[in-house]
Formats: sequence, C-alpha cells, structure tokens
Amino acid sequence: MSDQLTIAVFGAGGKMGMRVSNNLAKSDHTVRYVENSPAGQERTRQAGREVTDSATALEGVDVVVLAVPDVALQPVTADLVPQLAPGTVVLTLDPAAAYANLLYPRSDVHYVVAHPCHPSIFLRRKNEAEYADTFGGIAAPQDVLAAYEGGDEAKRAAAEAVIRAMYAPVLDLHWVTVKQLAQCEPTLVETIACMVGSLLKESLHEAVHTMGVPEPAARAILLGHIQVALANSLQGDNPFSEACMIAMDYGRDKVIKEDWKDIFRDDELDKNLQAMLHLEQPISR
Ligand SMILES: NC(=O)c1ccc[n+]([C@@H]2O[C@H](COP(=O)([O-])OP(=O)(O)OC[C@H]3O[C@@H](n4cnc5c(N)ncnc54)[C@H](O)[C@@H]3O)[C@@H](O)[C@H]2O)c1
Repeated sequence: MSDQLTIAVFGAGGKMGMRVSNNLAKSDHTVRYVENSPAGQERTRQAGREVTDSATALEGVDVVVLAVPDVALQPVTADLVPQLAPGTVVLTLDPAAAYANLLYPRSDVHYVVAHPCHPSIFLRRKNEAEYADTFGGIAAPQDVLAAYEGGDEAKRAAAEAVIRAMYAPVLDLHWVTVKQLAQCEPTLVETIACMVGSLLKESLHEAVHTMGVPEPAARAILLGHIQVALANSLQGDNPFSEACMIAMDYGRDKVIKEDWKDIFRDDELDKNLQAMLHLEQPISR
C-alpha cells in the first residue's frame, strides 16, 4: 500500500463520522463519504463534503471506516465486506461487534478496531483550544487503543496511518487484542468510569436538593475534590488524610456491592455486550 490511501467513511454524517471525516479531509488521502440518512447527508454537505454512493465509494478502496452504530455492524458488514477486494482494511470504531463475532467473516480482508482514549485528565494542556477539546480529535492530544489480529505488517501500518489521521492529534497508539479492547471498553471505562461520572452528577443533585447546600458551593467543592481524588488515587500526588480514609471506607461499605468485581469476568462481559448490542441470543464463542 502506498502512503496515500483511498478511504471510504460509512456513516460519515454521524457523531463519529463527522469527527473522523473532519480530520481525514485535512489529510493527503483520498476520502469518500457515504451516509444513508438524509440528516447525515445534509451534515456532510454542510461541512463541504460530497456524499458518494456505496458502490462507487468501494471502488479501489484501501481502507473502509465503519462509523455506523454498533447494532448495525452485522448487517452492514454482511452487505459491504463481500464486495471488497482481497487485502482491504476494514476499520471499526468500537470492539463490541468484533468481540461478539458479529462482523462478516472473511479471511482475506483485514479487520482492525480502533477506539480513541480521549485526552487524559492529567494532560498538560497548553492553550485554550486544548482545554476546550475534552473529547479529543480537535486540539488536545490523546492516545488510541487498537486491535489487529492478522499478521500483515503493511496492513497494520496502513491502518495506523488512518487511525492517527482520523483521531489526530494522537500521542501513543497501543496495540492490544480485540478481547482486551472489549475489556477496556465497555468494562473499564463505560461500566466503571462513565457510571462513576453519572454517580457524581446524582450526588451533586442530592447535595443541593436533599441536603440543601447552595448549588455553586456544592459544585465548587465537588469539582475540586474530583481532581484531588483522582490525582491522589491514580498518580499518588498526596496521601488522603486519616479521617478521609475512614469516610472512604464508610462510602465503600454503603455504596459498593461485595461482588462488584464480577464485572471483570468473561461471562459478565458477554452479558453486558449482549445488552449493549440488543442481541436476543447469548453471544456464541
Ligand atoms: N459517539 C461516541 O462518542 C463514540 C466514541 C467512540 C466510538 N464510537 C463508535 O463509533 C461508531 C459510530 O457511533 P456514533 O455514535 O457516531 O453513531 P451515530 O448514530 O451518531 O452515527 C451513525 C451514522 O451512520 C449512519 N449509517 C447507518 N447505517 C449506514 C449505512 N449502511 N451506510 C451509511 N451510513 C449509515 C447513520 O445514518 C448515522 O449518521 C460506533 O461503533 C460507536 O461505538 C462512538
């Protein structure tokens, strides 16, 4: 594969499709944009990009980026992947469907999954644009986790070039297995980190509406303590005080179920994915 690739983005007018297309459009690659909803087509055109039909987009394509919903990946790959030339790279943006064995099986195409890490809360941001870019892909650098279980290093390199362009600016790209990517996303980051984020929001609501603390005061002390809690726990910046540790133990006893680490078991991951992908049958391995 040459350095200049031909890329087709499916779902180009969706949330991730717009983000990755905004970045790919700035690259030297030839990029085609496919989108089947009228609203998504309109967003694509509004951004100054042309909508291409699926068959034309697949002609001579090197890399297909599937920015479609995870629940659509089974029918979408069953439709598109048989049309691809041997050696094409098919890039999905979340491991759920790949780990659940829902992608159309074809041994002569190269499936790659790449999920953005989002900029670290400990990133040393340098300017306003980096502070404003909490999601990543605009100004703040982020890492990416990617999985490729084939052995063709030229295809891996081509995939990495596209991944770095579409999630730019990218610091490190960590190659993991599809299973490890699924263990991180959803278990580590959606089941735990995003759930804790929503718990913090509910706790703020309780402090204001049940306990009667003025909202600006509750918000100020919570946001500052979130930073301290994370810096102390994840970076070892400062020790928690003895009294704080007693309060933390009380919280753990009251809030956390004894068997919570079950979520890290394979069968629980499968149950979580089955629900996320709206599958009627358990995932077959
Ligand atoms: N939203 C996020 O924050 C986020 C973050 C990381 C990864 N992802 C992953 O990105 C992928 C896309 O998610 P999203 O949130 O952007 O979804 P979305 O629903 O916002 O967008 C999906 C787009 O795909 C289009 N589409 C559906 N079927 C199509 C087809 N056959 N051909 C062309 N277009 C089609 C839809 O019209 C829609 O515009 C998923 O795999 C998701 O897990 C999302």
